[in-house]
Amino acid sequence: MLDLTVQARRPRETRVLFADPTYYDVEYVINPHMAGNVGSVDRAKARTQWEHLVEVYRTLGIQVHVVEGVVGLPDIVFCANQSFPGTLPNGEQVVAMAHMYSRYRTSEVPVVEQWHKKNGLTPVHWMDTQGIFEGMGDAAWVPGRRVIVGGYGFRTDLSVYPWLSDLFGVPTVPLKLIDERFYHLDTCLSMINENTALYVPEAFDEASLETLKQLFPRLIALPVSEAIEQISCNGHSPDGKHYIVNRGATETNRLVSDLGLEVIQVDTSEFMKSGGSVYCMKLMLP
Ligand code: ARG
Repeated sequence: MLDLTVQARRPRETRVLFADPTYYDVEYVINPHMAGNVGSVDRAKARTQWEHLVEVYRTLGIQVHVVEGVVGLPDIVFCANQSFPGTLPNGEQVVAMAHMYSRYRTSEVPVVEQWHKKNGLTPVHWMDTQGIFEGMGDAAWVPGRRVIVGGYGFRTDLSVYPWLSDLFGVPTVPLKLIDERFYHLDTCLSMINENTALYVPEAFDEASLETLKQLFPRLIALPVSEAIEQISCNGHSPDGKHYIVNRGATETNRLVSDLGLEVIQVDTSEFMKSGGSVYCMKLMLP
């Protein structure tokens, strides 16, 4: 098994991309959290929640970028999904573009691709036009290391990981997701640093649970009820010191505080109607 502590280092990201929520809504159902929520979004409330989240990242010293929303693309606001940025061994910044699972979301990809181009990242495309890959929703850099951990099973195919390995010149660790309430890796794994991760045991198959245990000496199980009701594993630690998470996940907050992190609670209730929260509302940029 891979020893993360001896892998090549990489700096933590200091920039983040958000997508403006002007046209955000729940217009269709493509994950179990969206069922019963079509047309129920309070857009004014969604904007207030989004602005507050953006402000939290600013306060932590992260440079914020925003891509405009688009009429008819309500889910573009979950801007973890359209792409996966990273740095090549030669230092070039590239971004692996997603192949969305749902036709409702396909047109988000060129919008985000344009933004990347304008901002100096080179987009690259996976050759497998039939394959699915939902960007940073499923693929994630281990904090501080040149290693990618990747979920597959619902929104991403296993076969994308050898391609990402070749592209970035790094090892990838695939993990199989088996519970559709945890349809993206970022709903059931939150890496804090190279030793520590939060996870939802119910979401993974046996072999993947074994892999996670070997990878992270401090692997903290979150209660499945909070991981569903507060999407508490979809929090994010941009710096290994803070954990930004939807409010009200009492046990998660206690477990995270016990790790020595400061919990920052935000309200993402409008976005949870679509099955997303903190982590999937942003894209970290190299
Ligand atoms: N409604 C969106 C979808 O089902 C939510 C995506 C949330 N993103 C995430 N990375 N978990 O595609």
